[in-house]
Amino acid sequence: MPRLSALRQRFEQIFNETDEALRVFFAPGRVNLIGEHTDFTGGYVLPAALTYGTWAVVRRRKDRKFRLASTSFDERVEFDATGLDYRGEDGWANYPKGVIREFDQLGIRLSGCDMLFDGNIPKAAGLSSSASLEMVTAFALQQLENIDQSLLELTQLAQRAENQFVGVNCGIMDQFASGMGKAGHALLLKCDSLIYRHVPLSFGDYQLVLTNSNKQRSLTESKYNQRRQECEAGAIALLKYLPYVSCLGDVTLEQWKTVHKKIRTPEIHKRLDHVVHENARVLTSTLALEAGDIKTFGQTMIKSHESLRDLYEVTGLELDTLFDQARQVVGCLGTRMTGAGFGGCTVSLVHEKAVGDFKAQVTQGYQAKTGLTPTFYKGESGDGTREILGR
Ligand code: GLA
Repeated sequence: MPRLSALRQRFEQIFNETDEALRVFFAPGRVNLIGEHTDFTGGYVLPAALTYGTWAVVRRRKDRKFRLASTSFDERVEFDATGLDYRGEDGWANYPKGVIREFDQLGIRLSGCDMLFDGNIPKAAGLSSSASLEMVTAFALQQLENIDQSLLELTQLAQRAENQFVGVNCGIMDQFASGMGKAGHALLLKCDSLIYRHVPLSFGDYQLVLTNSNKQRSLTESKYNQRRQECEAGAIALLKYLPYVSCLGDVTLEQWKTVHKKIRTPEIHKRLDHVVHENARVLTSTLALEAGDIKTFGQTMIKSHESLRDLYEVTGLELDTLFDQARQVVGCLGTRMTGAGFGGCTVSLVHEKAVGDFKAQVTQGYQAKTGLTPTFYKGESGDGTREILGR
């Protein structure tokens, strides 16, 4: 594995040679197939872990110091177990630092380590590079120090790091998909109970194509948090009329039909309308995939994008243009934005013989309308967080 030997060499250049064993861990990014902005409502999501991700080469220390470096960023960050504060100048390293602090909050005394990170997830593309950085850190530390935490608990710990340390009020989907993904499968997850099952992905002659809008994302975090607050306010108002329902993610289409008129603020009504229908779409999609009915899955993807555009309002010119262009390509069964929105990627289901035309047509139409050039990646599903080499 040439990448790994180059990484080990780089590690020794940065942190000095050593006889001590180095261990290498990997955590993937994810693509969400459907179920957008439903995780923090306790609803359903259907993401898949990708083959792209973040590697960490790690060596244990005994002096409670942490030294972090990355092949993608210049900042090297060093701190000890008493200096676990968020610092703007630490940049990317706040993600692993936040994870280290979460272990510390649990009363776990870490002995310290040197870590070199390397990754191949396109940045700011909405494919969860931050969740994979958090998950690879959490898993590496858990393995290195034999910490009694399951992989599932580590996904929750990584989410807390992002919520409380980095300050993004995300749901559990990204960390969960990165942790628990399985090659050849998506993952149907109910986000309040964390009950999940792997759903086989067999697209036959079709494949998933990821299209990066290459739009510089702005306002993503503040708008994300704002939408989440709107859903939370809406849920409080709505659940007064549904006393036996414990979260917005459990509201069925029938229940929504009977009570939706009680929600009089148009903005809030639209947000809830999206969430309730999107949850139903996740279940429709899962059943369709399990039945090998990829046509229905594709149509459901399209409805999801339209709802994110018209009701949840998180798409924007770039993602909508990619969507409109992709829909016109013969051989594209379905397409939608994936992730938080406002930029990042779309995911499309395209016949393998039409992939060339897809790329050409989408590029042409997208450039003409936005002046930007999209980038394409094959959306291959991969395994979740794991050790690659060690011990
Ligand atoms: C981001 C968040 C997730 C989820 C999606 C939208 O990726 O990190 O928790 O809310 O947006 O579905």
